[in-house]
Amino acid sequence: PTYTIVDKDTCIACGACGAAAPAIFDYDDEGLAYVHLDNNTGTAKIPKELADDFADAIENCPTESIKKLDKPAR
Ligand code: F3S
Repeated sequence: PTYTIVDKDTCIACGACGAAAPAIFDYDDEGLAYVHLDNNTGTAKIPKELADDFADAIENCPTESIKKLDKPAR
């Protein structure tokens, strides 16, 4: 399984992730991305059907702020 978390310290609110994977990423009041599956805690498995969208989001993020995890973050 795959988990993910956005590093909000490096996110520049570019918006590419939500465009590629709207079912995974959303934005806070400042436009910074977070994983809305699990409130950016890195604990929710990314559903298989979203794997392609997730890959696109990672590829399109200009700051490599989307972390891909093999295990839950906690
Ligand atoms: Fe931020 Fe990267 Fe998304 S910069 S808004 S995490 S594409």
